Amino acid sequence: MLITIDDVLTAAELAAMQAMLSRSSWAHGGITAGTQSAQVKNNQQLSEDAGHLPALRGAVLAALNRNAMFFTAVLPRRIFPPLFNRYGGETNYFGNHVDNAMRPLPDGSGYLRTDVSATLFLAEPDAYDGGELVIEDTYGTQAVKLSAGSMALYPSTSIHQVMPVTRGHRLACFMWIQSMVRDTGQRRLLYEMDMALLQLRQSHGDTEPVIRLTGTYHNLLRSWADI
Ligand code: NI
Repeated sequence: MLITIDDVLTAAELAAMQAMLSRSSWAHGGITAGTQSAQVKNNQQLSEDAGHLPALRGAVLAALNRNAMFFTAVLPRRIFPPLFNRYGGETNYFGNHVDNAMRPLPDGSGYLRTDVSATLFLAEPDAYDGGELVIEDTYGTQAVKLSAGSMALYPSTSIHQVMPVTRGHRLACFMWIQSMVRDTGQRRLLYEMDMALLQLRQSHGDTEPVIRLTGTYHNLLRSWADI
């Protein structure tokens, strides 16, 4: 299931990140690709020693920490340190692939299982042509190109690609998340239930059935979550 979250970043945060990215030097994106995806990945990425990387990562993680929608959609257990990429010019696409199931953590502390993949768009859509994130979902293929500061979340099990950028530059932050609930179907049920409960609470208040259903949500989460 594809979920989008608008305005994950404030305008000021976005402007600060764009300024840092404009002063950064870029490496080829093959540095984090798996064997199959390296064949089809042709973009640029900030290397681990890029000067602004800690500040950029900190800004993204702080924004995610305060975002209730991100929490309910992903139920994050661990987030891979966010990475930043750029598409344009000669390095302008990333063909069809599935993200590697296991990612070695950069600090050497082990592996993260990729349950959810996230793209945070950092360039306005009218700043570039192409660059749609195309995801094969159980409901069919979906193409997303969001406003700067907004995020797309999708199961890491999905085949996806970034279409060639034919004008301008597409800037984005991407990351993988290990969820407390590894099963996509269970995560989706919890998300839909939580969103429905939110609406019920807003329209009816904390009535007795709402309280009971909220309890059911938490008890399902308790039985499915792995932390
Ligand atoms: Ni990918």
